Amino acid sequence: MTKKRVLSGIQPTGNLHLGNYLGSIRNWVEHQQDYENYFCVVDLHAITAPHDPQTLAENSYTIAALYLACGISVEHASIFIQSHIPAHSELTWLLNCVTPLNWLQDMIQFKEKAIKQGENVNMGLLDYPVLMAADILLYQADKVPVGEDQKQHLELTRDIAARFNHQFAKKNPVFKVPQALIQTDGARIMSLTDGTRKMSKSDSSDLSRINLLDSPELIQKKIKKCKTDLERGLTFESIDRPECRNLLTLYMLMSGKPKETVAIECQDLGWGQFKPLLTEATIEHLRPIQAKYQAVMTDRTYLESILSDGKNQAESIANRTLTEVKAALGFSVPGT
Ligand code: AMP
Ligand code: TRP
Repeated sequence: MTKKRVLSGIQPTGNLHLGNYLGSIRNWVEHQQDYENYFCVVDLHAITAPHDPQTLAENSYTIAALYLACGISVEHASIFIQSHIPAHSELTWLLNCVTPLNWLQDMIQFKEKAIKQGENVNMGLLDYPVLMAADILLYQADKVPVGEDQKQHLELTRDIAARFNHQFAKKNPVFKVPQALIQTDGARIMSLTDGTRKMSKSDSSDLSRINLLDSPELIQKKIKKCKTDLERGLTFESIDRPECRNLLTLYMLMSGKPKETVAIECQDLGWGQFKPLLTEATIEHLRPIQAKYQAVMTDRTYLESILSDGKNQAESIANRTLTEVKAALGFSVPGT
């Protein structure tokens, strides 16, 4: 039986943090044997916000190295950089012409980022979800493992696929309509300084997040300073204690202990007793990832060969879909 296909990606903007890891990459790693996987570094998305040309390429290699460091295996996955495959940009244009403008204007992330970027809102920011749809639809992905914040973009991708199939490919649908794969625990990791906001690369305070490459000392400092409350006894249930729920979830996922075990272990603890436990579990969880990252980054030839193989494997599939899309839209084929 052929395996179902998975595609996902992360932008090379800033450092990866525990939200990216727990909401996204961890799930890629956990299920990689069950699927045929494509994991890209979405560098074309990264230029929708002001960016530094001096660091874009290096950041892309960093993210690819972190995929490997977190446990993605090339035995199961093709790892590649989005801009290395021109079909992503080309399909975006074609999909732009079947996507109603108001679908994009309704996107929550666009509205939030537009406010944040103020005067600096370019067409690319509005078009961001269409590029994401192109990433997914090019590979005929069955499943797309992402954090909860991407749910709306996945719905849009499904709508675009269905609309294209309906308008141009009724008899033989060109696109598979993909499904989001969102975990229950860790789908939305919250900021360390405000339990009501998600942990984010773009938060101005580095104390709000734990980055995968933070040193043990820095992790200790961030957890020491993180926001808590005045109550003793920690539980997952308390709705009005967002920091408590978030930190317990982090502890559960970092320590690998079952939820019930953590619930019993922490039910009578005060924050002063809990914080060292979370610190220790986080440092130990990240230690092998950081070691593997250093090893990958010292062997650039190896990393480049993986990205080159990934590109070749991915590109043949992408180009096949693109050819079908252009045929369905009625384009002429050169030389025929
Ligand atoms: P981005 O950093 O925006 O490129 O996001 C990459 C992936 O990480 C996406 O699948 C997001 O849904 C996921 N992600 C980002 N922030 C969080 C968070 N705070 N909690 C859970 N998942 C997240
Ligand atoms: N938009 C996603 C994010 O911000 C990143 C992304 C781009 C993506 N293309 C994708 C995720 C394709 C999954 C599949 O998190």
